[in-house]
Order: sequence, then C-alpha cells, then structure tokens
Amino acid sequence: MAFSPAFLDELAARNPIEEVVGQYVNLTRKGSNLFGLCPFHSEKTASFSVAPDKQIFYCFGCHKGGGVVQFIMEQENLDFPDAVRYLAKRAGMEVPDDRAAGSGYKRQERLRELCRQAARYFREQLFSPAGAPGQQYIMKRALSRQTVTRFGLGYAPEGWSNLIDAMTAQGYTKEELLEVGLVVRSQKGGLYDRFRNRVMFPIIDVRGNVIGFGGRVLDDSTPKYLNSPESVIFNKRKNLFALNVAKKSKQGRIILTEGYMDAIALHQYGFDCAVASLGTSLTEEHANLLAKYTKQVVITYDGDEAGQSATRRAIDLLEKTGVQVKVLRMQGAKDPDEFLKKFGPDRFRLLLEQSENHVLYRLDSLRRKYDLQADDQRVEFLKQAAYLVASLPNAVEREIYGAKAAQMGGISEEAMKLETEKAAKLLRSRQKKQWDQKALAPAAAAQPGVREIRYDNVRSARAEEGVLQLVLKEPALLDRCPEAVSQRFSSPLLARVLDLLRQQYEEGLTVQLGALGDRLTAQEMSHLTAVAQKGDVLVNEQALDDYLSVIDEEYEKAHVADTEDLLAMGQRLRRKKGFGGTEQ
Ligand code: UTP
Ligand code: MN
Repeated sequence: MAFSPAFLDELAARNPIEEVVGQYVNLTRKGSNLFGLCPFHSEKTASFSVAPDKQIFYCFGCHKGGGVVQFIMEQENLDFPDAVRYLAKRAGMEVPDDRAAGSGYKRQERLRELCRQAARYFREQLFSPAGAPGQQYIMKRALSRQTVTRFGLGYAPEGWSNLIDAMTAQGYTKEELLEVGLVVRSQKGGLYDRFRNRVMFPIIDVRGNVIGFGGRVLDDSTPKYLNSPESVIFNKRKNLFALNVAKKSKQGRIILTEGYMDAIALHQYGFDCAVASLGTSLTEEHANLLAKYTKQVVITYDGDEAGQSATRRAIDLLEKTGVQVKVLRMQGAKDPDEFLKKFGPDRFRLLLEQSENHVLYRLDSLRRKYDLQADDQRVEFLKQAAYLVASLPNAVEREIYGAKAAQMGGISEEAMKLETEKAAKLLRSRQKKQWDQKALAPAAAAQPGVREIRYDNVRSARAEEGVLQLVLKEPALLDRCPEAVSQRFSSPLLARVLDLLRQQYEEGLTVQLGALGDRLTAQEMSHLTAVAQKGDVLVNEQALDDYLSVIDEEYEKAHVADTEDLLAMGQRLRRKKGFGGTEQ
C-alpha cells in the first residue's frame, strides 16, 4: 500500500532519527553529526553517522544509509510498510487505512502476543495443583520465588494438548501455534504440545517480547532441554537469554554463560548482569548485541573441551567489536550454577575480579597443549606464543606478555623478542597480501548487496549532487532552481530525486530523503544518503549558481555533440546514397 507524503512526513517528524537510532546504537556527537559503531557490520571504530539536521544515517564503512524508516527496515528486518507501521506504533500514530491484517508486522505482533499468553499459561500452571512436579523441581534447584517471578518461569503439564486447548480457546489458531513451534505435527498429521512435563523458561528479547521457550525435563531423561525452533519472531543468532534484564545492570560488565540455569543462578546471587547464549555458540550478531550494552564481557563457559573451544570462538568474535574480553575459569565445579551452590557468591566475586584478560587465558591454554619438558614441544609452544604476542595491538602488551611467554617456555626475554619480531613480519606480509587481494577485487564483491551507482557524465553528476546537497540543507534554494533544471541533469536518478524533493517542498512538507523510502530502492537510498553526508558544503546562492552553470555547460556540450553527430551521420548517409550531388 502507498502511504501519503503527509503521513510519512509526520511519521519522520515524530520519530527523530537520532532518538530512534539511539535506542540501538551508542552515539557521540562530532560536529553536526553523531557517530557510533555500525549495527550493520562489525567494526571497532565508529564509521556510522547520523545527521539530525538531515534526518539520515550513513555508514562510511558498509555504505548503508537512509532515513529513519530504512534504519528500522534494516535493524528489525521489516519491509517498508511494516517499518512504517512499527514507527507509527512507536510514536502513537494511527496508520491510515491499515486494513492489511495479513501484513508481516501485524502477524508477528500476534505471534508475539501468543507467546506471551503461552508464558502466562505456563506460569499459572506452575502455581496450580497440576504444577506440583514443577514446583518440586524448582525447589530442588533452590530457585527463589523472586527468581521465578523475575524470569517468568512456568510449567508445562503432562498431556498432549493442554496448551493447544488453552490457546485455541483464546482465539489463536493451530497454524499460529505451529508457526511459533509451541505445537508439533506428528507423522500421522495430528498436532500435539511440544512442551510436556517440563519447567519452562521464556526467552525474552531486549524489548521485552516473549519470542520462544526453553523447557527442562524434571529428571535425567533426554533431551535435557527442549527449545522453541526458530520462527519469524525468534532468531537464535540474534537473541541472548536474560539480556532483557542484564541490559539494565549497573555492574559495568556482562557475564556470558552457556546455560539458562547458570544465568538464572547468577542473577539470584546478585550478579544481575548474566546472560546465556542458549546452547548455540556465540554468533557475530550476539557479539554486536553485547557490545551495544557493555564495555566488558566476562566469559564463563563450562570447563569441558566443548566449552573451551566455544570460549576461543567467543573471544575472537567479541574482540572484533572492541569490547574488553575476560575469561573466568572455575575449579571444582562444572558451571557457574554449580559453583555458586558449592562455594557461594563471594568466591565467585573473587574469581570475577581475578578473571584473566584473554591474552593470559590464551597463553595458558596454549601452554596446556604442549609438554614443556620436551624440547621440540617447547620450541613449538614458543613459536605459537610468538604469533599470539605479535598479534597484540599495542607495544606495552607485547612487552608484558612476551615476557610472560618467555618465562613459561624458560627462555630469555631477548630470545622471545626476536621470535616475536619474526612472527610479526610474517603476520604483516600475510595481512598485506590480503589487503592487496581486497584492493584488486571490485567494490561490489567486497560488499555484497551494495552495488555502485555509475554516472555517465561525472562532472555534471558532481554538480547535480551538489544541487541536492544544497537543497537538502536549505530547501528555499529550490526557488532559485529553474523548474526544468532536472531535465538537464545527466543522472536520471538525481533528476528524479530533485523532482521528488521539489514536490515535498511545494506541498509544504519537510524536504528530506527519509520520506522517499517507497520511491527509491535500498541501493538508491544508500547512494543518496552518501551524497548527502559527503563533505560539508557551503550553503549559499553562489554555490548553487556555480553548480547550475556546470550542469548547463555539460548539457550544452552533450547536446552540441549530439547535434554534431547527427549532422555528420546525415552527411555520410547522403554520400552513400548519392543524394543531392552537392559533395563538398
Ligand atoms: P548444559 O547441559 O550445560 O545445561 O547445557 P545446564 O545449563 O548446566 O543445565 P542444568 O544445570 O543441568 O539444568 C547448557 C545449555 O545448552 C542448551 C541449553 O540452553 C542449556 O542451558 N541445551 C543443553 C539444550 O538446548 N538442549 C539440551 O539438551 C542440553
Ligand atoms: Mn548446570
């Protein structure tokens, strides 16, 4: 459906881009722009910009850009109309003529509501007579009443259709239950409740929506945990258990655990900054998400081999986001839940304060791999350690950890330094090779999905871009642009956009790119926001006149060239056909 320009204008006005983006990205002001870490690609230095005056965002790294609606489209994975509905809801606006009940956003809202109702049902069951087994289990795990409430824990009773019955009675369909995975279809085609006789852990996203569940058996049977499958509202790669609570913590860090029970136990003992990565290994999206909420992540995965290799992967991903990464190693317990029960919170706090930064953790893990009594293995250890040390970003760190490695391997610091320099050289040449390959690859290959928009006449196009930059900053300059000037533009895209901006201006709306979302492709939008964010142009009439005269010049040139071409062609034709006989 098409939204009216007036509606889109109001939508943008009621959803200031700096405010909306600010809910997802930490922004700091630099001149007239705000900068932050791009939510759409992983980076350490902020190349993601928001221009409040132009109401656009643009990332100088991945080249995504647009207005507030495009931001929500990207961030929330919505199409244009649904992103508009999302923002309308945020601003408490009525969406005109929104009868498309089958629309994605509406449907998702309904599924989220279904999950909320299901969580409520499970909670009620826990406190009902039917919930006795669940209550007993919760007591056995020593979870307090407050913890149960805070995490909205519940119980799915024994039986094949308790939830189906309860939810269909509320008007939800079986298809909807299937879609969020609360219900399973048997091979014979019948439907039954996925979760039976399990303690239920609702999975809640950062905005407070219930998007899925984990359910634990009460005994030793398997699978120990059953989880909701992914659905249109539940993306495992993007959500962390308990982040909705941990994001409000004042403890200045986030503790990353493997399991529901670990995160919950930590909260119960006062560590209100714990989250769990839901049994899947940490993803790049998780890492970026964590980096939005904290500057320090402490990893406390299980001590087994699987947990340790998950730790190494998590370190790498988290490092890339620029957060400080630490690793907490436990002895005498397999996971934080067990540790807290055995040794209490004070011991855990001690471990937390002593948690190693990741370099030490890595050196130590490396050392465990080799038998340092054997000379050949010691040499291999030192070689690997040299690489690790060489890859550290600053000299002080290289010095400190180089000395540490030397000590571990029983060689002098001098010898270690030589080894490290050798490793550094190798790393540099490897990196250079990668860079060269990147430089050779066409831009399109380096950034999938972002194709460059090409201009036929670059000189004219630069001036056309200049005109757009000026009128975006000072719309009144449109009065000074001749009506037909867009017809002299060499770039059809820039011409079209100038006309659209003029239309906004004449209808008394805000002149802005953001409200053109449904008239431009994402690629065009990114390109235009890049133009708008390029350099700070001096806004005055002289600048506009200069651009206009370049456009005129180029237009005349092209036209004269056209005319000349035609004349020449005519002459050739005449010669061939022996026309006129007036050969010169
Ligand atoms: P663990 O087996 O370490 O469980 O799995 P845990 O958290 O210590 O659980 P308790 O203490 O025995 O109750 C860690 C995480 O892996 C996922 C769950 O998210 C779990 O919290 N997992 C584990 C599953 O999804 N399914 C399983 O069958 C087992
Ligand atoms: Mn456990």
